[in-house]
Amino acid sequence: MSDTVAYERHGDVAVLKVNNPPVNALSQSVRQGLLNGIERAESDDGVRAVLIVGEGSAFFAGADITEFGKPPMAPALPDLVDRMEASPLIIIGSMHGVSLGGGLEVALGCQYRLAVPSAKIGLPEVHLGLIPGAGGTIRLPRLCGIEAALDIMTTGKHVPAQQAHALGIVDEVRDGDPFENGLAYANELLAKNAPRRVVSELEMPKSDDWDALYDAVLAKSRGQISPAMCVRSMQGGAEMPFAEALLNERKIFVELLQGDQSKGMIHAFFSERAVGNLPELKGVDPRALTQIGVIGGGTMGAGIATSALLSGLNVTMLEMSAEAGEAARGRIEGNLAGALKRGKISAERHEEIMTKALTVVTDYAALSDADLVIEAVFEEMEVKKTVFKQLDAVCKPGAILASNTSYLDINEIASVTSRPADVLGLHFFSPAHVMRLLEVVVADATAPDVVATGFALGKRMGKISVRAGVCDGFIGNRILSTYRTCADHMILDGASPYEIDQALEEFGFAMGPFAVADLAGLDIGWAVRKRKRAEGLDPRARDAAYVDTICEAGNFGQKTGKGYYDYSAGAKARVPNPDVLPLIDAEREAQGITPKTFTKEEIVRRYMAAMVNEAAKVVGEGIARRPLDVDMTLLFGYGFPRYRGGPLKWADIVGVEGLLNDIKSYAEEDDYFWQPAPLLEKLVAAGKTFEHLNKGDTV
Ligand code: 3HC
Ligand code: NAI
Repeated sequence: MSDTVAYERHGDVAVLKVNNPPVNALSQSVRQGLLNGIERAESDDGVRAVLIVGEGSAFFAGADITEFGKPPMAPALPDLVDRMEASPLIIIGSMHGVSLGGGLEVALGCQYRLAVPSAKIGLPEVHLGLIPGAGGTIRLPRLCGIEAALDIMTTGKHVPAQQAHALGIVDEVRDGDPFENGLAYANELLAKNAPRRVVSELEMPKSDDWDALYDAVLAKSRGQISPAMCVRSMQGGAEMPFAEALLNERKIFVELLQGDQSKGMIHAFFSERAVGNLPELKGVDPRALTQIGVIGGGTMGAGIATSALLSGLNVTMLEMSAEAGEAARGRIEGNLAGALKRGKISAERHEEIMTKALTVVTDYAALSDADLVIEAVFEEMEVKKTVFKQLDAVCKPGAILASNTSYLDINEIASVTSRPADVLGLHFFSPAHVMRLLEVVVADATAPDVVATGFALGKRMGKISVRAGVCDGFIGNRILSTYRTCADHMILDGASPYEIDQALEEFGFAMGPFAVADLAGLDIGWAVRKRKRAEGLDPRARDAAYVDTICEAGNFGQKTGKGYYDYSAGAKARVPNPDVLPLIDAEREAQGITPKTFTKEEIVRRYMAAMVNEAAKVVGEGIARRPLDVDMTLLFGYGFPRYRGGPLKWADIVGVEGLLNDIKSYAEEDDYFWQPAPLLEKLVAAGKTFEHLNKGDTV
């Protein structure tokens, strides 16, 4: 047998116990072990049934993703599933934990499927830019019909056992030990001479209009192609003999595996898990957290408090006045009502939070027993310093003091306290109880266990936490400022905000930069521009005053009903604000610029070049430790399309050398803005990619 699959004989039943921690991925040794086990059972005298059961946390989490992109190793998963169906024995799968992707496909190769109530099934291949590749697209619809099968495979969702039973995917749901249950079920089937029941021999449902299904799925997937390809593969199942349809599915799977979208998404899968894995924190215990303080209950403070409450922490919210405190409580209550409506918390928990876990105060003394306090007051250094001095005076020794500042210097904030080792940045994104990104900003003196506590808090809140160093805007907002500036330059030179938004939304961004600016509030950028102008702009920096004119008229975007767009017909029905283009024309005229046209490709190329160049500076300066940290920041905080992996994965895919050449050609027009990142130049000179740096290589 193989190292990962044990063969046991229990009366007439051969049991194949799979043990491939942590999640029983179907690696080569598991596939081989299952194949050997089935062959051995067939020649084992008296064996009439085979039970497949997973040890540990899962039945199977699917194909071994680490094998993707490497030379294929026999037996291939589709061949194994075919071989299972061809066996004269009755094969039973007893599922617990997850049965995902290839794991569900193995279950579909069984003739009978049993699950414990907590088991979940799913085909999440679309999240890796793939389709199910071992018969899933043409076996699942035979059990549950086209609509349910398409829903499962195009969303990649995890379906609970009872629901899977109701859909006809699972035959029985029984509580108890998966092995004991499975053995009992196998013996019951044998006792009643249950027939062999092969899924591929069941009738394949048909659709009247496959093209309409394909178009509908494609329209929903924002440029990602794999969900729509599930339809095409299913269609093959309805129109071709089974064996041919299986080859067709395999062909689509392999094409997608070789394509860029799966490269981006597989990078995202592993990076999402690697991002919180920092060597410097190995063996460092986080400090205990029970009681959290939040200063300022505006947009961010209320969201942060909500997130903390939802993760089971107690929160003391401090506001400037009783009225402001009540407004903050109202915002938190509104957020929690949403969580209650979506079933994220029970009515009892909601009541408990509002009456016990949340306290709203105006007196700093109430924060004396807080384990960690997060400040989310106005973005002004002097206000922040005043708050931190007061916190330093009242908070207990060992309490952690955090700032949610977007841009300000955490070292300067820490310097007004007597405990800079306990100070860090915890930069949440709006809305803080929804957005998954958290930048853990490490200042010069921040202690390692304080950093570890930031990561522990993020994990508890279900966030993707990224380590960032101190600079203007940390990782995300610093890069954002640069690519936004690039977009502003393109506007001065002839593009319209609407062309830019459209090009970038077609590239895959959830929203273009000007729609985002309207959502965040144009007043934020206005304040930053005023601050930067007050600090003194470099004379070589290009400036545009037309946006200030929009702000001066009281138009701050969605919240006032007008910005780049007019929202009078609702937030979703955005239409260009007719006042904007004349303002831009006037600005170009004032600056003596003759406008030129930009194609969508040129817009995307410049915008992405600016993003990659700044990202390379951020990595080169150590603000982000690895390229993947930048990628995850943009993915989880800035609506970057997951199927492109992140800006630096995208750069690797399109080629870093070509990008550097473009940056150098743009520098011929503006050598102040387009200064090539030294790291990018070194990578190109060494013939390396950002992925080399992710793997620990240096240049
Ligand atoms: N292959 C290889 N490694 C895997 C894996 C897989 N399918 N699934 C998970 N892992 C690894 C993770 O990378 C992680 O490794 P690390 O500890 O070194 O970072 C470890 O297993 C534990 O994973 P998580 O941290 O994600 O653990 P959770 O308990 O939070 O989640 C899970 C478990 C729900 C199974 C989640 O890992 C998951 O969703 N995995 C991917 C499932 C998937 O996409 N399956 C389809 C694969 S493609 C396929 O089957 C193709 C077929 O159709 C031919
Ligand atoms: P906001 O204006 O909505 O809320 C600020 C709140 O702080 C107000 O309720 C105000 O009453 C309170 N406040 C001000 N001074 C105070 C003091 N001395 N003591 C107690 N309460 C005080 O601002 P917002 O948007 O919530 O921003 C807060 C911080 O979060 C800023 O530093 C901002 O840069 C940062 N941030 C903002 C994001 C956003 O998208 N709005 C995203 C990430 C960070």
